[in-house]
Amino acid sequence: MRALPSPAGLQAVGLRKIYGSVVANRNMSIATQAGSIHAVVGENGAGKSTLMRLLQGVERPDGGEIFVDGVRVDFTNPGDALRHGIGMVHQEFMIAPDLSLLENLVLGEEPVKRSWGPLSWIDWPTARTQGQALADQIGALIDWDQRAANAPVHILQFVEIIRLLRRGCRTLILDEPTAVLAPVQVDELFALLRNLRTQGTALLFISHKIGEVMALADEVTVIRQGETVFHSSVAECTADEISRHIVNGELHHVANDEAPQPQSELLSIASLNARSVNRSHTLHNISLTIGSGEILGIAGVAGNGQNELVECLVGLRPSSGLVTLNGIALSALNPSQRRRHGIAYISADRRHEGLSMQASIETNVVAGSHRTSPISHGGWLNRAAMRKIAKDRLQALDVKYDRPSDPVSTLSGGNQQKLVFAREIATSPQVLIASQPTRGVDLNGIAAIHQLIRDFRDGGGAVLLISEELDELIALSTRVAVIADGTIVGTVKAPASNLPLIGRMMLQGAAA
Ligand SMILES: Nc1ncnc2c1ncn2[C@@H]1O[C@H](COP(=O)(O)OP(=O)(O)OP(=O)(O)O)[C@@H](O)[C@H]1O
Ligand SMILES: [Mg+2]
Repeated sequence: MRALPSPAGLQAVGLRKIYGSVVANRNMSIATQAGSIHAVVGENGAGKSTLMRLLQGVERPDGGEIFVDGVRVDFTNPGDALRHGIGMVHQEFMIAPDLSLLENLVLGEEPVKRSWGPLSWIDWPTARTQGQALADQIGALIDWDQRAANAPVHILQFVEIIRLLRRGCRTLILDEPTAVLAPVQVDELFALLRNLRTQGTALLFISHKIGEVMALADEVTVIRQGETVFHSSVAECTADEISRHIVNGELHHVANDEAPQPQSELLSIASLNARSVNRSHTLHNISLTIGSGEILGIAGVAGNGQNELVECLVGLRPSSGLVTLNGIALSALNPSQRRRHGIAYISADRRHEGLSMQASIETNVVAGSHRTSPISHGGWLNRAAMRKIAKDRLQALDVKYDRPSDPVSTLSGGNQQKLVFAREIATSPQVLIASQPTRGVDLNGIAAIHQLIRDFRDGGGAVLLISEELDELIALSTRVAVIADGTIVGTVKAPASNLPLIGRMMLQGAAA
């Protein structure tokens, strides 16, 4: 696909990027237009993030060309791209948590009031006026004096966007911005992106959710195995058509589910209380049980105690009350002792909790099993056994990688998530605590993970499922407990037919 550079905007033609033996981008072509939202979709490992790194100057292509307003460019670093008006809204923000949002906004680019030799005085009133003017222009409500560490994640995204606008960006790249957001935050982000579009910004937006693409984007590009395979205006194609292009016709359907009757009680939580650092109650009086062969879903508006509950159960946060597994009290046990007793844990934050980013793929996938046979034998590490086990686990979820000895950081985001899941389910736990298990995972990956969760349930395991995807909760859960303001406000049976009730309980709790 060779096209002439478009007169305005950012355009890539036939980009290529190779890592070792992996061709991450084979033949990528894409163009942005002012005042248009361009969605980029494709399976995990298709090459989306790589393409964005090339467009933003983080890495250089091995072939192909990039044009800005019809002129060929060669970015050697992100500063080059910025000077051409192209910026990326990072997932891992370059934000200093202890500074205020205003300080973060101008960090490294402070307006200066006066200089005297090496000293300069920052012009804070000007910084605030500039920030506020841009926030007003795009419709963002920002408390500039808030510490970054206390700001919700979508507000950090807004600050990042304003920072790029302040530096003159006219093309913004967003790599899965909604993966870390709760549904209400997604709505706020979309409102802001629509304002940006109206004001003439060009947006490149990556997502795994076709619903988001249909709701937000003007055009869509599908990439598969490093190539652009489909491009259309969103008005002229259907969600089904896009999905089919993503998977090349190989959409896996999950078989109709007949949940078995839960058996005996496996995990029991009684009167659990936990305090946060500022001594206010974080969790109060939580009592729940999960039976063998049962999936208990936790629904709630983000930030109502979901993470704290999980931390208490896996032993990362002190709590009072009684938690038992098969009648054995867990309260005095540390996280690794709980793991040995059969509790597996999929963290919502895989980069910080689920993975050791600099360690190899195989080390990460066998972590936790490395002291047991057959990997460890009389204190010796059996590398062949380790490699075989790692390979089997990665295969179970079709994780795409080059060499098992490569750092896990070289995996695409969705493949990292699949790896964590494959590792945790492979240890034959009794209880699986799964927090946002399909975050960043593509359509077929979601189907595979859902099937593994059901298989685990059918084998007698108990699952605590925390998800911001109501669809996911409903599809999998036997019962759904609703958490609000640190307490369980009710439990709903047959969740599929009681969706409005769950929604009301989530909101009632939030309003209380
Ligand atoms: N630094 C690197 N070294 C080696 N391989 C890499 C590196 N970065 C990416 N890759 C490989 O390039 C391919 C494309 O990865 P990329 O991150 O672009 O995928 P993606 O489309 O963003 O996927 P996801 O939806 O999971 O985020 C993957 O096979 C990945 O393992
Ligand atoms: Mg990616």
